[in-house]
Amino acid sequence: MSETSDSTPERQAHLAAADGSVLRADDLIAGYLPGVDILNGADLYCQQGELVGIIGPNGAGKSTLLKALFGLVKVRSGQVSLDGQDVTNQRADVLVSSGIGFVPQSNNVFPSLTIQENLEMGAYQKPKKFNERFEFVTSLFPALGERRGQRAGSLSGGERQMVAMGRALMMEPSVLLLDEPSAGLSPVMQDEVFVQTRRINRAGVSVVMVEQNAARCLQICDRAYVLDQGRNAYTGTGKALAKDPKVIELYLGTLAKA
Ligand SMILES: Nc1ncnc2c1ncn2[C@@H]1O[C@H](COP(=O)(O)OP(=O)(O)OP(=O)(O)O)[C@@H](O)[C@H]1O
Ligand SMILES: [Mg+2]
Repeated sequence: MSETSDSTPERQAHLAAADGSVLRADDLIAGYLPGVDILNGADLYCQQGELVGIIGPNGAGKSTLLKALFGLVKVRSGQVSLDGQDVTNQRADVLVSSGIGFVPQSNNVFPSLTIQENLEMGAYQKPKKFNERFEFVTSLFPALGERRGQRAGSLSGGERQMVAMGRALMMEPSVLLLDEPSAGLSPVMQDEVFVQTRRINRAGVSVVMVEQNAARCLQICDRAYVLDQGRNAYTGTGKALAKDPKVIELYLGTLAKA
């Protein structure tokens, strides 16, 4: 298919820029049901230290892309690479020990467990590292340390999101995948989540974040992808995309003018 061939300018640009990246996806075709592809040739890369955003309309395949990167949706064709190694269709628990952290869109904490127990679950593959990682996570999010004995189910949505991100950070991931961390939160808490994401990134963790709050996402990310119908519609720096009239018209709408 010409749209997913190596000869398109978009793919050429991707191939040239993706070299040496910590995480990359090349020409992914993936889906849930036989014969129904949700990803139709998606490309993505994240260089060490980058904060990369993925925005796009509902149903575009944003969550599916993250799940394909994390081994939760079968990749039918194309490749996922971590630090230059092919990790396509590896199991999620293997990917966690190889350096990918994933915070799903919902049900991302154990509500009956305390904050500390949630963080312990995050470190279950490396229990000896618990103290060192607990220190790192609570230095980023002091509230998690102060309230370590509180059950996650009794926390607010924003606090729970902090626990979920903290849990994923316990395994010292080289790249963290976040699926709509600000969804369902009050505007103040949404802002807090963006600040926290930036803080995680500044601490040296590469981040790939899917966001429904597209305008805010473009403000904080280094680069972003606009995903539409399972493939890249636009890509560029967050700043450039936020100013692109087509992106504004099609994907940002009135939010961009706010
Ligand atoms: N478990 C599943 N089984 C079958 N189809 C699914 C499944 N999950 C998602 N889909 C379908 O895949 C398509 C893309 O869904 P996906 O959740 O990746 O979109 P999204 O871009 O994350 O949307 P949203 O902004 O609503 O979160 C949709 O048509 C959806 O119905
Ligand atoms: Mg989604």
